[in-house]
Amino acid sequence: MEIIILPDATTGGAYAARMIEKLVRNKPKAVLGLATGSTPIPVYQNLIQKHQEENLDFSQVTTFNLDEYLGLDPSHPASYHSFMREHLFSKLNIPQSQIHIPDGLAPDIEAHCAAYEAAIVKAGGIDLQLLGIGGEGHIGFNEPSSSLTSRTRVKTLIPRTREDNKRFFKPEEAVPHHVLTMGIGTIMEARTILLLAFGDGKAEAIARSLEGPLTARIPASILQMHPKTIVLLDEGSASKLEMKDYYRYVYEHKETTHSIHREENELLS
Ligand code: PGA
Repeated sequence: MEIIILPDATTGGAYAARMIEKLVRNKPKAVLGLATGSTPIPVYQNLIQKHQEENLDFSQVTTFNLDEYLGLDPSHPASYHSFMREHLFSKLNIPQSQIHIPDGLAPDIEAHCAAYEAAIVKAGGIDLQLLGIGGEGHIGFNEPSSSLTSRTRVKTLIPRTREDNKRFFKPEEAVPHHVLTMGIGTIMEARTILLLAFGDGKAEAIARSLEGPLTARIPASILQMHPKTIVLLDEGSASKLEMKDYYRYVYEHKETTHSIHREENELLS
């Protein structure tokens, strides 16, 4: 894992967007794994700006979103279909046929989940998966105790996640109990994973994920096993990391002759 502590979420969003830009410019047919929630919003704002002002072309890009509420109509304002339309897809040039989001209304959920997995494989696998993290360490909607090798399936949300996500629903609406989510095994097959976390509220989950034991109690801890995960934090989310100074030291002394590291370093310039 490469752990990078940045000044704030704005810088983190810009950094992540530059990584995605670099990928898409080098590989126009890139396959992106996308996330919802507050965390990726600055990333999406940067991508929209790059598309509108710097000719970043998404016409050949394919996307797969992590998750969706079960039983929620895609037109519902709190659905992740709506979220993605509003925050990204309505402002980029990705053809609809290249956009994939789990369908919470699929008549045969099991078949739909299997088809979702098959579509990722058919697209050539995910090049870069964007992730946020839940307060209890979930990635996608893989809540604590999720199998660390799980595939796309139905999950039950823990009370904290329903509480955290209440803000996306009207006061009189209940947050659904069930969701469809890519599995942890699915996420782990992405070639690069970019985990973003900002604010004090994520400090505990980040410390346990990055420095704690690998455990299904904290699903994001599996990222310790991934060959190329980059974690972008701000001071708040990094505040409970024991080895914070070490991560800064490593970053400041990054080896830049190796090609992968040189490319990443260029993102800072
Ligand atoms: P947030 O959610 O970005 O809205 O904090 C992240 C998550 O639950 O994965």
